[in-house]
Amino acid sequence: MRQLAAGNWKMNGVTASLSEVEVLKQHLKARPANCDVMICPPATLVMALAEAAAGSPIQVGGQNCHAKASGAHTGDVSAQMLADAGATAVIVGHSERRADHGETNEQVRAKAEAAHAAGLTAIICLGETLKQREAGETLAVVHDQLQHSLPTDSTGANTIIAYEPVWAIGTGLTPTPAQVGEVHQALRGALSALVGPEAAHAIRILYGGSVKPDNADELMGVGDVDGALVGGASLKAADFAKIIAAF
Ligand code: PGA
Repeated sequence: MRQLAAGNWKMNGVTASLSEVEVLKQHLKARPANCDVMICPPATLVMALAEAAAGSPIQVGGQNCHAKASGAHTGDVSAQMLADAGATAVIVGHSERRADHGETNEQVRAKAEAAHAAGLTAIICLGETLKQREAGETLAVVHDQLQHSLPTDSTGANTIIAYEPVWAIGTGLTPTPAQVGEVHQALRGALSALVGPEAAHAIRILYGGSVKPDNADELMGVGDVDGALVGGASLKAADFAKIIAAF
């Protein structure tokens, strides 16, 4: 399947940051990507980034959505709103939201269902903490997160999984290729049991956590790794382009 390089800008970016999109477009023109490319900016920039990316291969995603389509939820953004602004995907259940906002697997599943209902691809994030890895609980933890965060109607067209070890996010630390491969293989098997082998093979499983230009090649070469969710290194187009070129 075609891999995906998705950039997660987190709470970074103002209008001036759209110049990075222009630079990325030039990079992609000079050297067309061998993978799908997406940027997930803050909600305030979704529409402007979608306009800036028009006519290029760059897709746009949100970073979070509410589980409801509309209503009295001050400060929240619905999946429909993101779709209306030009997004085709939305990240749900990022570990920073699970930690900062106490999001549970069940809430993440409801958000993914809302994304599906709005025609968006849900990028469902999961991953273990360092404590859980050291306790040998990694596979059990990610299996539990997958089982309870994944909508039953998930297919390759509407769902992407992102395995992001919490201890690797923003730290410069990464699991070894063998550790990444072990988790991705286990997730593929778990997907097969949950939504059937056909959907399991079509659902992309991204790796995320300190993906950089100098480790992208190794990480993206691991079996069952279908792309990357990139935080810090997606903010500068020159770095993100180097990661994309490693695919
Ligand atoms: P990082 O973030 O690449 O800065 O580690 C990844 C993520 O949280 O999606």
